[in-house]
Amino acid sequence: MVEKSIRIALCLLCFLLCHSFSALAATPDQNVQLKDDSEDGFSMEPVLLHDRIKYNMRKSLDLDDDGCYLQPGKKESIEECGFNTSVKTILIIHGWTMSGMFESWMHKLVAAVQRRESEANVVVVDWLGLAHQLYPDAVNHTHRVGQSIANLLDWLQGEVQLQLEDVHMIGYSLGAHVAGYAGTFVNGNIGRITGLDPAGPMFEGAESHKKLSPDDADFVDVLHTYTRGALGVSIGIQEPIGHIDMYPNGGDVQPGCSLGDVLSTAAAGNFVEVMKCEHERAVHLFVDSLMNMDHVSYAFQCTGPDRFKKGICLSCRKNRCNGIGYNAKKMRKRRNSKMYLKTRADTPFGGYHYQMKMHVFDRKNADDADPTFYVKLYGSHNDTDNLSVDIADGVGLNLTNTFLVFTEEDIGDLLKISLRWEGPSDSWSSVLKHLKSSFWSWSSSQNKKVLEVRRIRVKAGETQKKFTFCADKTEISSGQEITFIKCRDGWEVKPRKRLHY
Ligand SMILES: *[C@@H]1O[C@H](CO)[C@@H](O)[C@H](O)[C@H]1NC(C)=O
Ligand SMILES: *[C@@H]1O[C@H](CO)[C@@H](O)[C@H](O)[C@H]1NC(C)=O
Ligand SMILES: *[C@@H]1O[C@H](CO)[C@@H](O)[C@H](O)[C@H]1NC(C)=O
Ligand SMILES: *[C@@H]1O[C@H](CO)[C@@H](O)[C@H](O)[C@H]1NC(C)=O
Ligand SMILES: *[C@@H]1O[C@H](CO)[C@@H](O)[C@H](O)[C@H]1NC(C)=O
Repeated sequence: MVEKSIRIALCLLCFLLCHSFSALAATPDQNVQLKDDSEDGFSMEPVLLHDRIKYNMRKSLDLDDDGCYLQPGKKESIEECGFNTSVKTILIIHGWTMSGMFESWMHKLVAAVQRRESEANVVVVDWLGLAHQLYPDAVNHTHRVGQSIANLLDWLQGEVQLQLEDVHMIGYSLGAHVAGYAGTFVNGNIGRITGLDPAGPMFEGAESHKKLSPDDADFVDVLHTYTRGALGVSIGIQEPIGHIDMYPNGGDVQPGCSLGDVLSTAAAGNFVEVMKCEHERAVHLFVDSLMNMDHVSYAFQCTGPDRFKKGICLSCRKNRCNGIGYNAKKMRKRRNSKMYLKTRADTPFGGYHYQMKMHVFDRKNADDADPTFYVKLYGSHNDTDNLSVDIADGVGLNLTNTFLVFTEEDIGDLLKISLRWEGPSDSWSSVLKHLKSSFWSWSSSQNKKVLEVRRIRVKAGETQKKFTFCADKTEISSGQEITFIKCRDGWEVKPRKRLHY
């Protein structure tokens, strides 16, 4: 475990350093270029910081179109760019860059925003020159880039009465903290800031005014996708820093991003590709939330990933669930509220969550059964595979067990559930143990372990509907399968009418 942590830490360092070196490697070329210019007699004025931050307003869906640049101080540019104050303004802010160019996600995000909000002013904040630096220098620049964005917004407030509540900033990685600074410095309150896996190194544990925080906008929502790290460092920030903080798949391991998955799709697959896959997943989940409106994914408030995995937190009462990504509803009264969901490995990312509860009775010889349960769900549209039930601390006997079942497909209305269990003694590894145990007691049916489950109570996270499933035969020996059929809506046995004397 410790070794693994150290390995991750080393890879992380390597990731930060290797790309810092590549940024350095690019610098000498530029110097040569500049020298040549000056020898030709050009004066070398220091590059003004604000010239290195550009506000590219997207005018058409055509991504090859250069768009138009909003230039603070030049009022004509507002009209030239067709900036419209009566609609939303969405600013997209990139993070630290290794290549010095926009990464491919930027085009996907811009296109998805434009498609969803066709009227909106969509502005890409281009600070590539300042982001293509050693990581600590890029971090240092976030402050000034945020200040520059605040100046732009203040200028628009003055010139065309821009309403800050109509402004939504979407920042990825370091860009999330840039948005935080912009929110700090602007005159007034920005409507919304979305942080897409905000950067962790040099921000984790920092004071709230030095990173994105709920104070930076009326509503700050954050997606955390790559919080796995070591020695307190991770690429994405671990701590909650918004009004609501969503941790898809626990926020650490994203499906479809394992080394094996990435190797099969990326030619030059390596550990860096895995990191990129997990970090960038926040952007792709957000893009998915913009595009897939027929199946909105919900996240559920929970105190931690372990409780969520047990299925305890699938409630929508009192705003305890919310749409993820763009579909999140404002929740200003909360701060640092952690929310969880599971996702598929690819778009559409949304799936279906079920909470299941069953009391497992130990009927015969099963005190040491250590069972693993398998369920299969049958729906009106489709069925699932056999799914193994993940109960972290093991199945409790003579107790009610709660667990989470996630299906990738929409199976329609849940009609029946088949249930099966196996003990570790059913696996090959323990055959030896069996051989050691006395032969006659093993073969004797007297010793057969039997559990009993009388009903399964199910709550569907996506519909919030509750059902109870019952079986005719309720005792199950290991390896056997029994089927539970929906027997009533809700969970409670209808209370008998009181007799009045
Ligand atoms: C601004 O947007 C509103 C609402 O969509 C629209 O009615 C109006 O024509 C737009 N104004 C300009 C100048 O495009
Ligand atoms: C950025 O770096 C400069 C020079 O090293 C330093 O003076 C300044 O305090 C740093 N700013 C921030 C916000 O860390
Ligand atoms: C469960 O309860 C049964 C009957 O009361 C008892 O025989 C059995 O030992 C209990 N098993 C465990 C694991 O507590
Ligand atoms: C049912 O689910 C399987 C995957 O589990 C899928 O391949 C199949 O297309 C689905 N069928 C329908 C009718 O949706
Ligand atoms: C699921 O488990 C049952 C019972 O063990 C078995 O008969 C069936 O073939 C399994 N189905 C799949 C898809 O693995």
